[in-house]
Amino acid sequence: MKPAGLPRVAVSSHGAARLRAGEPWVWRSDVTPPRAAGAETDADLVAVVDPRGKPLGTAFFAPDSPIPLRVWGPGVTPYTDEELRRRLRDAHDRRRATAAAAAAYRVAHAEADGLPGLIVDRYADALVVQTLCAAMDRREAAVVAALRDLFAPRLVVLRNDGAARDFEGLPRRKGVVHGAGPTRVTYAEGEVRFTVDLLEDAKTGGFLDQRENHLRTRRYAHGTGLDAFTYHGGFALHLARGCEHVLALDESAPAIERARANAADNGLTHVECRVANAFDALRELEGQGTRYDVVVLDPPALAKRRGPLTAAERGYRELNLRGLRLLRPGGVLVTCSCSAQMTPTRFEGVLVEAAGLAGRPVQVLERRGAAADHPVLLGVPATEYLKCWILRAL
Ligand SMILES: C[S@@+](CC[C@H](N)C(=O)[O-])C[C@H]1O[C@@H](n2cnc3c(N)ncnc32)[C@H](O)[C@@H]1O
Repeated sequence: MKPAGLPRVAVSSHGAARLRAGEPWVWRSDVTPPRAAGAETDADLVAVVDPRGKPLGTAFFAPDSPIPLRVWGPGVTPYTDEELRRRLRDAHDRRRATAAAAAAYRVAHAEADGLPGLIVDRYADALVVQTLCAAMDRREAAVVAALRDLFAPRLVVLRNDGAARDFEGLPRRKGVVHGAGPTRVTYAEGEVRFTVDLLEDAKTGGFLDQRENHLRTRRYAHGTGLDAFTYHGGFALHLARGCEHVLALDESAPAIERARANAADNGLTHVECRVANAFDALRELEGQGTRYDVVVLDPPALAKRRGPLTAAERGYRELNLRGLRLLRPGGVLVTCSCSAQMTPTRFEGVLVEAAGLAGRPVQVLERRGAAADHPVLLGVPATEYLKCWILRAL
């Protein structure tokens, strides 16, 4: 179908090739000219064409964004609130297979669920929404209305206060947009209960992308454990179900306070929660001769969105070297990276170097990613941002 009726925005042949390969974004450098025809209109839905004028689909358009085009659909796909609701319902239906038993999980994972710039997380009876591009931002009311119809939630919280908003040039804001009552919610993750404040805590409250890795780590829990970037005790509390002692570190005092409260709520008195810089603490523990049977490393993204990776690779190498040195023979290292730029191949390269420096043979037990309710788009490496390798140091 001809993309009649919508303003047309042309992309470079590179941009066109990326779109044809399944990439749902076009970066500004691939929009030709950078402030293209559509910029003359107020339209935030445009027809994308290749350099020869061939239609490539319909996209949300934000001329000043680093990512001006985000694909909404093939051919001419008009935006309607009904279509938005249908996509949300379909995304949730897919969670019956990927998050069936979970009380807290990702309902909608943006582009990977056909919902450009929209993230919805569920925590028991509450939902948290993030709109990460201007066009979805403008449709916030429609998103909330659809979520109310589909889920009848007690609460819908808007968490548009992350760095992704700065990247898009959108103002930061947050608040309760539907319902009332406490924004603090308790939910079960397997055998462990976590409490999060949906309005105040990091991200949308918890690191839901690590849910399956938390549960999996339980299988390796034995002896003593160290969770060096624990946040609310995500890995530490699962480890504590099988370890005799767990040390949980985080440089954030509020995070450690919550980890402590979560440990107490679960009756896990053998979890020691300490405010500390993990890089320093790992060095000190090594110096003191302390050794562990399981070490978990889940640092914040050490690599920026774009730019050279060298410093980040050095950081990951150093961290993993220290983690390996802290392991008793046969000990297990659960090591993560949530930097999209750090591809699985590069991450593995860094781990190979760290193992070499540690001078220890290392078995790969598992190469894992984000929980299945954070789907990866084939051909779009950035959606494979979370790596969680489980290794055994001999
Ligand atoms: C990716 S989150 C960890 C998520 C957690 N492992 C979970 O599964 O819920 C990274 C955490 O590292 C903490 N952090 C950042 N820099 C740190 C540092 N240098 N030392 C210790 N903690 C740090 C942050 O406060 C944040 O809680």
